[in-house]
Amino acid sequence: MAATIDFESLPGVGPATADKLIDSGFDSYQGIAVASPGELSNTADIGESTAADIITAARDEADIGGFESGTDVLSRRNEIGKLGWRVDKVDELLGGGVETQSITEVYGEFGVGKSQITHQLAVNVQLPTEHGGLEGRAVFIDTEDCFRPERIGQMVRGLPDEVLAATMNQRAIDGGPTDEAAMDALLESVLERIHVAKAFNSNHQMLLAEKAQDIAAEYEGSEWPVQAVCVDSLTAHFRAEYVGRGELAQRQQKLNRHLHDLSRLADLYNTAVLVTNQVQSNPDSYFGDPTKPIGGNILGHKSTVRLYLKNSKGTKRIVRLVDAPSLPDGEAVMRVETEGLMPE
Ligand SMILES: Nc1ncnc2c1ncn2[C@@H]1O[C@H](COP(=O)(O)OP(=O)(O)OP(=O)(O)O)[C@@H](O)[C@H]1O
Ligand SMILES: [Mg+2]
Repeated sequence: MAATIDFESLPGVGPATADKLIDSGFDSYQGIAVASPGELSNTADIGESTAADIITAARDEADIGGFESGTDVLSRRNEIGKLGWRVDKVDELLGGGVETQSITEVYGEFGVGKSQITHQLAVNVQLPTEHGGLEGRAVFIDTEDCFRPERIGQMVRGLPDEVLAATMNQRAIDGGPTDEAAMDALLESVLERIHVAKAFNSNHQMLLAEKAQDIAAEYEGSEWPVQAVCVDSLTAHFRAEYVGRGELAQRQQKLNRHLHDLSRLADLYNTAVLVTNQVQSNPDSYFGDPTKPIGGNILGHKSTVRLYLKNSKGTKRIVRLVDAPSLPDGEAVMRVETEGLMPE
């Protein structure tokens, strides 16, 4: 990843310190500008007063954003799209669906259905708005080699006939849902509008988030803009690569930066960002559910909506909304079936 920073411009930063900063994920003026002297001094092995000087210099260089009028904020908020799961109870819980311009985190244990959700939303985002879609394309950053076009096929075939007819119409595909050739054409068209990339490690994953911006820019204003970005899983590589306690700060710093890039992408291109996260068992927990998502607090701040996905009887899954800023906490039940996500 190209550093967006000229380290020589910072007081007291030589090549060795620069390397340490980059390794810890401090590779933008902005990242340094909002760090604390203690944090910087620890990661880069420099004195606190040097760290303070570096931060001051970075603040001069950084674009740390400014104020805008409430009217501007409102007009941006008016653009927010809602991407439906097409499961009424869940969409009600979410106030209409997964919002664009923000990050939604789905966390839960292994095999619970997080990737089923990312697949389903990569389909749904393409549907006409009256059927819960955003008439856009999807970007899928696949870190666990879990993306399956066959699964997309099952989910497309699982859509009700009137939805299939509407989206065929939208794509000028003749024939209707009962015509196999038309279904094949539809499936091809849906898969064409999902841009998948496998991330081999966390650095690669971060690079792909930047690439996703390029795709979003390429299709901005087109008939099929990028309206959903799925990162499945957000944390697996980070978790595997940064194992020791001593590496925790570094891992959080990098994850933080990655999330920053994703939230910028969400804002700039009015797209929904959906990330998945596994839970780790938390032996320190004495009450409540003894599991908590990887990434801890930082992720808690950045993901605007957090959903905890839990197993229930058979194919049933419980979707629990956890501390959303503007929605009441609550739960909804759905099922994961061959046809995709279904109502209870
Ligand atoms: N074709 C299918 N038909 C019906 N159910 C399916 C199908 N494929 C997957 N599932 C359901 O989804 C579950 C797997 O879910 P998924 O892979 O999304 O889990 P995950 O939460 O992403 O797990 P991990 O943390 O390992 O990534 C299966 O156990 C099964 O219940
Ligand atoms: Mg998965």
